[in-house]
Amino acid sequence: AGYVGGPTMAVLADKCPFLNIYVVDLNQEKIKQWNSKDTSELPIFEPGLEQIIKRVRGKNLFFSINVDKYISIADMVFLSVNTPTKTKGVGSGQASDLRWIEACARQVAKSAKGHTIVVEKSTIPVKTAETIKIILKSTEDSDDSNLKSFSILSNPEFLAEGTAINDLENPDRILIGGEDEESMNHLSKIYEQWVAPTKIIKTNLWSSELSKLIANAFLAQRVSSINSISALCEKTGADVNQVSSAIGADSRIGSKFLMAGPGFGGSCFKKDILNLVYLCNYFGLPEVANYWKNVITINDWQQKRLSEIIVEKLFGNLTDKKIVILGFSFKAKTNDTRESPSIYISRYLLEEGAHLIINDPKVNQKQVDNDLKDDQFFVPTLNNKNSFGTWEFSNNLEAAFEKADAAVILTDWPEYKKINWKILFKKMRKPAWLFDTRSIVEEKVIKDIGINLWKLGSNC
Ligand code: UGA
Repeated sequence: AGYVGGPTMAVLADKCPFLNIYVVDLNQEKIKQWNSKDTSELPIFEPGLEQIIKRVRGKNLFFSINVDKYISIADMVFLSVNTPTKTKGVGSGQASDLRWIEACARQVAKSAKGHTIVVEKSTIPVKTAETIKIILKSTEDSDDSNLKSFSILSNPEFLAEGTAINDLENPDRILIGGEDEESMNHLSKIYEQWVAPTKIIKTNLWSSELSKLIANAFLAQRVSSINSISALCEKTGADVNQVSSAIGADSRIGSKFLMAGPGFGGSCFKKDILNLVYLCNYFGLPEVANYWKNVITINDWQQKRLSEIIVEKLFGNLTDKKIVILGFSFKAKTNDTRESPSIYISRYLLEEGAHLIINDPKVNQKQVDNDLKDDQFFVPTLNNKNSFGTWEFSNNLEAAFEKADAAVILTDWPEYKKINWKILFKKMRKPAWLFDTRSIVEEKVIKDIGINLWKLGSNC
């Protein structure tokens, strides 16, 4: 019942009224939220999701904690659990933690009846289907009555957060990997209810599993490539947005995913590349591993570099300075903060003693608190912990800007495009700075106001 399972099954139920879909999860609280009468309390915010849930919930889409019961009556089971990076043991920091996938496979093996098609939806390392197969097969073999059998398919999800419903309703492609043609056709027929058959790609299991990882690695690589060029633009007087448009006009390159920014965040890019690096090393390909590792190195560097520029522009000292952070989610139109550049940049600034006023249209104070407290990512660079800054959350921009020394735009929320800088600038302590890492503000609007503007990827 997470970010992939919830929206995907909602769209499936909407497009296929002849299917009964049961979304099951061990997390009672989450299921309660999905079942909540007030649809604004769904555990996930995605434009368009609420309307679909209103249409299909209780009709052919059901949310339940009764995992065994619904596995036992299912013809097809989708595994959409998370596969985070391992934090200890073999492959720690790189390999995916497959404990939930394995637990699911065991539960399906135990509770399924008749023939069940098991579909991997989670992003998983290549050859995970092998593990699932072994677990399921061992049950098949020990089932004396011969009433239990399984087919395994890989059907990775390519939806992006914030546009999940549109991505699901109008996918670029549907990928189905498998060994058994009949099961692949069953799944394909479901998608054919709304997706053109020419967009449905059928491959072997391993190509499908690997393609998901590689699609994310290529997307992240584009972001790191343009971010590395943003630094060069700042030195040379070129403008990174102009460079992006110029190179993106080449149809071989394409214009998407060329926006420079504070680095990619989200739950998948970093995790998937780390996983790819692990796989390459595991298979004795250190050169390939190192090539992809650099995508993450540039991403980390971009966040550090931005933080250092802010410190430098504010006379090398942030102690007792007030800085407004505009945006905490990893991108606009989502309340997800996983791996958000705002977390890292806020921490750097706090380490320097700043007082941060954090604003976000969708993220709440509790989430910010969890993220800034979470020590998992924290690498203190200062010896003197006493110089730590403080932070507060604010929904009121006018109050937030009162005597602020600087503001940093970190998320590309459309709301920030509408800010009246003239009014806010008046409230700030002078000299005041605006750091725009997402190309939100127009230079000519800011020019006459008197605020110092630093724009990522330009010499402004
Ligand atoms: C990504 C992929 O785009 C999906 O296809 C994939 O299914 C998903 O991961 C997944 O594996 O679950 P998502 O993480 O939701 O989706 O977000 P993206 O829209 O891809 O953005 C990722 C990060 O890159 C964001 O922080 C965004 O701000 C940044 N980005 C993106 C840029 O800095 N510049 C760009 O031009 C594009």
